Amino acid sequence: MSIQWFPGHMNAAKKEAAEQMENTDLVIEVLDARLPEASCNPMVEELRKFRQRPCLKILNKTDLADPAATAAWKAYYEAQQGVTAYPMSTKHPADVARIPALCQSLAPHRGVPTKPLRIMIMGIPNVGKSTLMNALLKKRVAKVGDEPAVTKIQQKLYLGKHTVLVDTPGMLWPKIAMAGDGMMLAASHAVGSNALIEEEVAEFLANLLLDRYPQLLTARYGFKTEGLDGIAVIEQVAQRRGFRVRGGEFDYEKAAHVLLHDYRTGALGRISLETPETRAAALIQHAAE
Ligand code: G4P
Repeated sequence: MSIQWFPGHMNAAKKEAAEQMENTDLVIEVLDARLPEASCNPMVEELRKFRQRPCLKILNKTDLADPAATAAWKAYYEAQQGVTAYPMSTKHPADVARIPALCQSLAPHRGVPTKPLRIMIMGIPNVGKSTLMNALLKKRVAKVGDEPAVTKIQQKLYLGKHTVLVDTPGMLWPKIAMAGDGMMLAASHAVGSNALIEEEVAEFLANLLLDRYPQLLTARYGFKTEGLDGIAVIEQVAQRRGFRVRGGEFDYEKAAHVLLHDYRTGALGRISLETPETRAAALIQHAAE
């Protein structure tokens, strides 16, 4: 399955971001630590490399991600030129407090009265850009919500005396190349609930959990996972929780919803949907198709 998502403001956002990049010294790219490559917009790299801007790649929501996978992603990104990778959670003020110094070290020639440090925050919807800005500025400056594409208005804000933050509208490339990326984004709520059937997304998540985190399924719901497939996992959730529709059938829809909710909130545990290794394997498979 492929997902087509063509919000009208995306092209306008790219044009605007390209113009802004000219007057930017440093890009903060916010990624979801649970799915960093699936949650990155290739346009960000394209635009910043064209202007040779350094980048602080924030692997956000580490409170929800698998720490081993996050460490692997940090090493993966830091092998790239001009990039510092910073795993963090906007829920932890101490993590946020380190950002200004990291930015300054990436652009040491800026941040003085004659040359203010101009920072552009970029990333797809729902990775936590607005929450990050609010935390950095210690005030509510942008609408924060769990529905995609909430951040629509471009803003210019002063982080310090000589540091300016520019927020860009949430962006996502118009076509998601790999079906798995769309599924990961939907499971993590970066694609709106209308874009995909929730049950299909839950089945994808269940299969991934069976493969990589079966012990978390057992710990949360109390069933053994041997011999199960994704659909059977959702049925087990329905059975264990007593979700039934009229007539006594299992309420598959409700169980799918609960599984997704438990993943999104971290109730299932700290889970990463991809690692550098699984990404490399997915790319090879995609190229062969
Ligand atoms: P955006 O601007 O990039 O579109 O994202 P936004 O800040 O609106 O954040 C999207 C959701 O992600 C919000 O959830 C926000 O609280 C949550 N979030 C942001 N950073 C983190 C983080 O480091 N860890 C966790 N666990 N969540 C994070 P929400 O459900 O709308 O709000 P809330 O109920 O969590 O406050």
